[in-house]
Amino acid sequence: MACLLHDVGKVAVPDSILMKPGRLTAEETEIVRQHPVVGERICAPLKSLRRILPVIRHHHERMDGSGYPDGLRGEQIPVQARILQIADIYDALTTDRPYRMALSSEEALQILEYEVMRGWLDGPLVSKFAAIRRAREDFRMIGRSMLASYYGGSRPTGIRRA
Ligand SMILES: [Fe+2]
Repeated sequence: MACLLHDVGKVAVPDSILMKPGRLTAEETEIVRQHPVVGERICAPLKSLRRILPVIRHHHERMDGSGYPDGLRGEQIPVQARILQIADIYDALTTDRPYRMALSSEEALQILEYEVMRGWLDGPLVSKFAAIRRAREDFRMIGRSMLASYYGGSRPTGIRRA
């Protein structure tokens, strides 16, 4: 459920920002950064979604505390959110976007590993994910989030995650 709904807060972000091919302004970035909190607020009234609220809220935190909205660090970030980040980024990188073609699986895994080095993603979880992916030629996505986060620009320095 969290995989499907984690970006639901993007309904509050105008398409002109979500689809913008270039760099976001500071103001636009601030609007995008509100989507985890908006998503949590949208889902909060539903009892059936209570368990995934922390995943929605914290899916853009980073291991080094530089993420948002709360700047959580390491294991303060719910493990489900750390797992979802990895799958979400892999999904975003390996699908075509308005501003770039899909990357290969190996390129996507290298970017995930680069993000571990930068202190953003959970290293052991990325290692596990990469090992599973590399061992399985028939690895396929079971489903894709319509609201998946996206990257823009060149990699790895131009990475933008919404
Ligand atoms: Fe997101």
